[in-house]
Amino acid sequence: MSIKIAPSLLSADFARLADEIASVEKGADLLHLDVMDGHFVPNITMGPLVVKACRAHSRLPFDCHLMIEEPQRYIDRFLVAGADMISVHCEAEPHLQRALQMIRDGGAKAGIAINPATPAESLTTAIEFCDFVLVMTVNPGFGGQHFIEPVVPKIRHIAQLVRERGVPVEIEVDGGIDARTAPAVVSAGARILVAGSAVFGQPDRAAAMESIRAAVTSSKV
Ligand code: DX5
Ligand code: ZN
Repeated sequence: MSIKIAPSLLSADFARLADEIASVEKGADLLHLDVMDGHFVPNITMGPLVVKACRAHSRLPFDCHLMIEEPQRYIDRFLVAGADMISVHCEAEPHLQRALQMIRDGGAKAGIAINPATPAESLTTAIEFCDFVLVMTVNPGFGGQHFIEPVVPKIRHIAQLVRERGVPVEIEVDGGIDARTAPAVVSAGARILVAGSAVFGQPDRAAAMESIRAAVTSSKV
């Protein structure tokens, strides 16, 4: 099973971002950047300035996860900063199809992020407008939280919706993903795995990513 690993910079040392990025450059498929505004989520992290600064230090595709109210107002700025993928929360964007179109028009892949308590049904009128769905397996805002197991059947449900519609939509999961939880989400249909503390919390980042891949491979999902 071919999966992509997206280390989340949220668990990196923010005073040494260039070095931290270099430590995952080999072994990662994407770099996940968590943007938080202190409104949609209680935490505040980075904006387009930091994304642009990081862009100069990496060849990896940048996956910007916008945990902000009215994300449409900032999409252009993240496109200019160098985002290759941008996800907006369906709970935060009242004009979801329009926001996804803006992302695609800017040449990036468009994603719908969905919180653990939001039902899969809320994707039914927008799934054709996106390239990926980012399924949260924790409530967004912080790294290092516990994986919410009851989201696994929802991943399966979304994978089924994708198959029924025949759309080329990838499923990404985010929150509490490590070698222990990865096999279940991949078995349910996830193909992009975000991992923050499971990668940046380990001294050997390449080995940490490898152990997630190995767990998925050995579980034969
Ligand atoms: C949480 C963020 C995640 C976070 C995941 O709100 O969206 O990307 O970095 O961290 P871990 O993998 O430690 O749960
Ligand atoms: Zn994230």
